[in-house]
Amino acid sequence: MPDLPPELPTELIEALSDARRVVALTGSGISAESGVPTFREAQTGLWARYDPQELATPEAFARDPELVWKWYAWRRGLVGRALPNAGHTALADVERSVPEFCLVTQNVDGLHQQAGSDHVVELHGNLLRSRCPVENVTVEPDGADHLPPLCPNCGSPLRPDVVWFGEALPATELEAASEAARSCDLFLSVGTSGLVYPAASLPYEALESRATVVEINPDRTPLSPHADFSLRGRAEEILPRLVGATFG
Ligand code: OAD
Repeated sequence: MPDLPPELPTELIEALSDARRVVALTGSGISAESGVPTFREAQTGLWARYDPQELATPEAFARDPELVWKWYAWRRGLVGRALPNAGHTALADVERSVPEFCLVTQNVDGLHQQAGSDHVVELHGNLLRSRCPVENVTVEPDGADHLPPLCPNCGSPLRPDVVWFGEALPATELEAASEAARSCDLFLSVGTSGLVYPAASLPYEALESRATVVEINPDRTPLSPHADFSLRGRAEEILPRLVGATFG
């Protein structure tokens, strides 16, 4: 694990203090401390033999809807027990401290909302919601024991309200995220490998619009050489320090 920067750069603190429009893009790294497994961590127990990238697809759901539903129910149970960490809380503090703030997340765990963030754009959906694939509306599953539960309106098997591999992102959310990235003064990229598009394009849109781009990640990513500030460290350690140093 790389050493934390001894001091956060003064120029960064000044940039965040002066910023009127701030955007944060988060990935699974910000939830790691909360114990939410990512796709890329080894699956444990019952799911060890499945490749998550094989389960999170429309084809897998068509082939075996019960298996896919059970995998998401297992993840929903994990997320249901997870609590926001200091990284999530720090971003909620930023939202309360700057004139305009937009939090764009690739995560589906709802932890930003639990931490008190209001303006959250969920690019990949939310694990805690279910959706009727025919009517394309979110539906609260009834208590029936059928797996997956069936849509009470049309009887179709419900699916998790998340974006699967190979599926398009929700157009409204993607446009909102892109508009925010293009019009911000400062863009924080936190806990994402920056490998999955179109989310990974957002910091580059901010750079093109001459925003200050800040990356927080223990590891280097493709964004690292392009960011104005690339801080090697954990979100739950760096973000509270940055917020404290900037807003007191
Ligand atoms: P990844 O697992 O690809 O990357 C997580 C990043 O977080 C890595 O770069 C880690 O170094 C970093 N990280 C780990 N612990 C951290 C910490 N405590 N603080 C800060 N950073 C930390 O996850 P994502 O980038 O979110 O897509 O993956 C993006 C998408 O890939 C996911 O949304 C999912 C997956 O395919 C869909 O589900 C459509």
